[in-house]
Amino acid sequence: MAAFPSLALFFLLLTFTEAKEILVGGKTHAWKIPSSQSDSLNRWAEKARFRLGDSLVWKYDGGKDSVLQLTREAYVSCNTSNPLAEYKDGDTKVRLLKSGPYFFISGAKGHCEQGQKVIVVVLSQKHRNVGISPAPSPAEFIEGPAVAPTSGGAALNLKAGLLVTLLGVLVLGLF
Ligand SMILES: *[C@@H]1O[C@H](CO)[C@@H](O)[C@H](O)[C@H]1NC(C)=O
Repeated sequence: MAAFPSLALFFLLLTFTEAKEILVGGKTHAWKIPSSQSDSLNRWAEKARFRLGDSLVWKYDGGKDSVLQLTREAYVSCNTSNPLAEYKDGDTKVRLLKSGPYFFISGAKGHCEQGQKVIVVVLSQKHRNVGISPAPSPAEFIEGPAVAPTSGGAALNLKAGLLVTLLGVLVLGLF
């Protein structure tokens, strides 16, 4: 009888602590110049979920390509001169230990300019617990949010506030 709750707890803990290895691009040999916009690595990244503790994995020919981690500014301009980190072993693993955006490009000459680049956004603990909030789009970290979330959020808060007030009045009226 007592086994069931502890088993459930065990699986609950497992789902929260399980760190994944995520192959960048979703398949081997995906670290290359995308054939089209719809095939781009950022399209893939928008659909994927990255959590604290997960690892990104790249598989590629270390003799021809590499993975550079850059600042946002360097990512935007494909500036390879001063990377935060450089990997060229062909089997690169990067553990995601802090939340926020990570910027990666190919170190092969001219590849970043042709789209071999990806932004990975790791959600904070707060985001994760909310669950329903959509993952921010990688593009937001370059261009800023497409819509101004503050005005919509304020309107929503105002409505919620009114609702609470109305409910309060109703409850008070009952007693
Ligand atoms: C690339 O970044 C370095 C600093 O990291 C800077 O000195 C250089 O001017 C940049 N190059 C271009 C083309 O923006």
